[in-house]
Amino acid sequence: MTTARHGPKLLILGKQGSGKGTQGARLAAHLGVRHLATGDMLRAAVHAGTPLGREVATVLAAGELVSDELMLDVLDARLNTPDVIWHGFLLDGFPRTLAQAESLLERLGPDGIDAAVELELATEIAVERLLARAREDDRPEAIARRLALYERQTVPVSALFDRLDVLLRVDGNGTPDEVFDRVRGVLDPVLWGTDSAVG
Ligand code: AP5
Ligand code: MG
Repeated sequence: MTTARHGPKLLILGKQGSGKGTQGARLAAHLGVRHLATGDMLRAAVHAGTPLGREVATVLAAGELVSDELMLDVLDARLNTPDVIWHGFLLDGFPRTLAQAESLLERLGPDGIDAAVELELATEIAVERLLARAREDDRPEAIARRLALYERQTVPVSALFDRLDVLLRVDGNGTPDEVFDRVRGVLDPVLWGTDSAVG
């Protein structure tokens, strides 16, 4: 059985440092949907010292992926709140394996997702951005590991949404404002129709 959902159901995809978090926050505010960033959820658990946080702390620091099973438990707890069911969601950092993508589609039922925005950026530029940020997993070894896992595990996820005809590719170069304008330019027509004013 699947839940009847109301708001938009969106994904933001892209390699580490491509700007998912930056654009995801702006886009969610623009659309009034809930920004569900799995990395943020896990880091919050680590900082709060919860059992989940203690379990995943070393995984995050090394740039490895948390298990699909654990990740789906974390996600289910959020995806099925009345707030998210009503306002809709923008998932950031999930799905990043084919198994996660298939589980998500199973949970959403026949309507699936409305759109998956993929931010495209050269790896060298993404790495520069991450090194400038210096989060705990923004060390050269962990960045390299995260990017390698992206190529192996997450690129096939984009291909899946492309086949489902919901993938919207956006150039992630330029300032956050420039990228945001491009994202709105491709997404607004999908959500509101081509006649709606983009203002
Ligand atoms: P997560 O938090 O998702 O990190 P990530 O995938 O490594 O991606 P980032 O957050 O580093 O990049 P981003 O694309 O969001 O870019 P951002 O906007 O921040 O995941 C962390 C860890 O959690 C994973 O490694 C894994 O262990 C675990 N995890 C999470 N989800 C999981 C899942 N589904 N399954 C299993 N494990 C999971 O931008 C980066 C920097 O660039 C920032 O400093 C920003 O200010 C800057 N910037 C952004 N846009 C621009 C711009 N246009 N110009 C200049 N600078 C910019
Ligand atoms: Mg992020």
